[in-house]
Amino acid sequence: MPNVDLQVNLAGMTMKNPVVVASGTFGFGHEYGQFFDLSELGGICAKGLTLHRREGNPAPRIAETPMGILNSVGLQNPGVDAFIASELPFLRQYDVKVIANISGNTPEEYGIMCEKLAEAGVDMIEVNISCPNVKAGGLAYGTRPELAAEVTKVAKAHVGSVPVMVKLSPNVTDITEIAKAVADAGADALSLINTLRGMRIDVMTNRPILKMNTGGLSGPAVLPVAVRMVWEVANAVKLPILGMGGVSKGEDAAQLMLAGASAVAVGTALFADPYTPLTVRDGLAEIAHRKGLSAVSQLTGGVNPW
Ligand SMILES: Cc1cc2nc3c(=O)[nH]c(=O)nc-3n(C[C@H](O)[C@H](O)[C@H](O)COP(=O)(O)O)c2cc1C
Repeated sequence: MPNVDLQVNLAGMTMKNPVVVASGTFGFGHEYGQFFDLSELGGICAKGLTLHRREGNPAPRIAETPMGILNSVGLQNPGVDAFIASELPFLRQYDVKVIANISGNTPEEYGIMCEKLAEAGVDMIEVNISCPNVKAGGLAYGTRPELAAEVTKVAKAHVGSVPVMVKLSPNVTDITEIAKAVADAGADALSLINTLRGMRIDVMTNRPILKMNTGGLSGPAVLPVAVRMVWEVANAVKLPILGMGGVSKGEDAAQLMLAGASAVAVGTALFADPYTPLTVRDGLAEIAHRKGLSAVSQLTGGVNPW
């Protein structure tokens, strides 16, 4: 591997490299730990947590699309207490930053989860205000500046010194409006993008493929949308950004970093190749080297728009 410094800093959290795995695509790491040492990652965004255990939505809840997938998993998870008791100790065996991802039905639920997770010692809390599959709450917070700000304030009031990263929804007319509201409310970092709402229909039965009718689109198809949104947000607010959406190789990650991201997450690509985070990391180092940079962090914000 070329001699390039891979270390990055995300809102005061130092990671040995900029590659994180995206929430909901890596579970709590058990399965992927059979393929590689989880300490090779910069960070792990754990599966989305709710205050209480959730079964998720009925099947079918994954559908393939050209260059991506639609999912309506619906936040199946064991609940925040079970995460702290069983999953966090497992993740703590590794030299990797642990980012807990949370979804609440009410601002109070976000507050309770933040308090529990901060006390349990996670490295960062990612506040999901955008999951389109949760009937109560989710969509509304991420699509209205005042609601996004409210959740951010509540989270910040309950985390002590643990940084709060707010995960933005792409299902809005102007993502910078939400980014500004969340920044003003005190967020330490932003992550984007979550999935784009989509739908597939079986033309013989006239039924939607997903039992929930619609789902969230992710994978290579969304990369250009993610790059555009990271660029817009980076120009609108001063906060560090974790960029994601369709990353499957170093060049994809480099585009997000040039657009303004300090670090990148890999999600859907893991389903086709569990080693993707490592190839993305090595690809980033290679690109930085070819560009004559001594550190991958020098890619951040380097785009030179026409
Ligand atoms: C099956 C699946 C489950 C997901 N679950 C969550 C979740 O629990 N919380 C969350 O914030 N994002 C969730 N996401 C969104 C991803 O973290 C990521 O933002 C999105 O998929 C775009 O990245 P990608 O194209 O690399 O997958 C999920 C995505 C998929 C495909």
